[in-house]
Amino acid sequence: MNIETKCVQAGWQPKKGEPRELPIYQSTTFKYDTSEEMGKLFDLEAEGYFYTRLQNPTNDSVAAKICAMEGGVAAMLTSSGQAANFFAVFNICEAGDHLIASSSIYGGTYNLFGTTLKKMGIECTFVDQNLPEEELAKLFKPNTKVVFGETITNPTVSVFDIEKFARLAHSHGVPLIVDNTFATPVNCRPFEFGADIVTHSTTKYMDGHATAVGGCIVDSGNFDWLAHADKYPGLTTPDDSYHGIVYAERFGKAAYITKATSQLMRDLGAIQSPQHAYYLNIGLESLHLRMKKHCENALAVAKYLKNNENVAWVSYPDLEDDKYHELAKKYLPNGSCGVLAFGIKGGREESIKFMDSLKFITIVTHVADARSCILHPASHTHRQMTDEQLIEAGVAPDLIRLSVGIENADDIIADLAQAFEKI
Ligand SMILES: Cc1ncc(COP(=O)(O)O)c(C=O)c1O
Repeated sequence: MNIETKCVQAGWQPKKGEPRELPIYQSTTFKYDTSEEMGKLFDLEAEGYFYTRLQNPTNDSVAAKICAMEGGVAAMLTSSGQAANFFAVFNICEAGDHLIASSSIYGGTYNLFGTTLKKMGIECTFVDQNLPEEELAKLFKPNTKVVFGETITNPTVSVFDIEKFARLAHSHGVPLIVDNTFATPVNCRPFEFGADIVTHSTTKYMDGHATAVGGCIVDSGNFDWLAHADKYPGLTTPDDSYHGIVYAERFGKAAYITKATSQLMRDLGAIQSPQHAYYLNIGLESLHLRMKKHCENALAVAKYLKNNENVAWVSYPDLEDDKYHELAKKYLPNGSCGVLAFGIKGGREESIKFMDSLKFITIVTHVADARSCILHPASHTHRQMTDEQLIEAGVAPDLIRLSVGIENADDIIADLAQAFEKI
């Protein structure tokens, strides 16, 4: 199946007489006839549902759809994109370990890695993702366990060189995790370029309508944990909390997701509700259509901004003269996403006046849904970061993030034009 068909058809496969539409299994618990049957589930000796904190059929159907779209072997939904990135890393890192992450990532992930993981004894080195391979190679340590980046970075809309980082990670015996939220599998499938694990904030384009916070982790099944057994004891040595199961031996290519489900979800409980998974599935059914329109509109808006005398600079990888256009042609040949960044001449005061003058393009924290919206990261999402951290993350203090929706492009441009007249 091509990606458009997967958006619509993958996941829920009803059998004879079952509902055509994905049912919401609004149940915390599942019935068994004997205690032996139930016991086998707890020993991971039999497959089946027993408690929604670990697994639920609605969630699993939607995870299976995203898994098919990304071309992975196993996937799980989480309560948010934050939970997805936390689980993705914490599943293979513990106190005393180290990870390498691009510094140009979403502010929430930056805080998670730089502050919260640090409190748990996991150290993160943030890197300029444009550094040459030889420079980046020097940052690996014996305790480095994973490398992390975003396909298209939020909010700087830079393109991550997946193949470069996959080569680096693999030559140091560690996997590459790519947050594919902005590109979505419609525009880029990181596994095709060597990424090992993909994460999503499904809250964004996948849901697409700003209705449900959620996340997803997909495993390619390609990383050989047993070949690097000393680095990943959580997957390659017995788990005492499951009667000594060795995940990599028992579950093969599904080991990573099985461990994340049966251990992290069991203990930390960041599940997506089946109701949210249902909304997400409806969003996924039109993702291919929306992404096309987001990209068309964003390119029209980017070209308009580029020729506007009030605008100091524009970043959008689909523009031919953009710094990331070559990488975009390779990784995102059908278009990148609907998000672009630009700066207004003058500075903070003009930026705020401009944003406050917009009519239907609204100021919201959210990004990447059907409605056009705008944000000034230095005042909002990234306000915890110091000026130095902002600059390191490539977030200029004048950066405005515009998430171009699926309205009519002329109307979006008209709204921007009338706001420019106010400054
Ligand atoms: C690229 C990226 N990853 C992760 C997240 C976190 O996702 P959530 O808000 O669903 O927790 C976001 C949120 O904006 C994001 O943009």
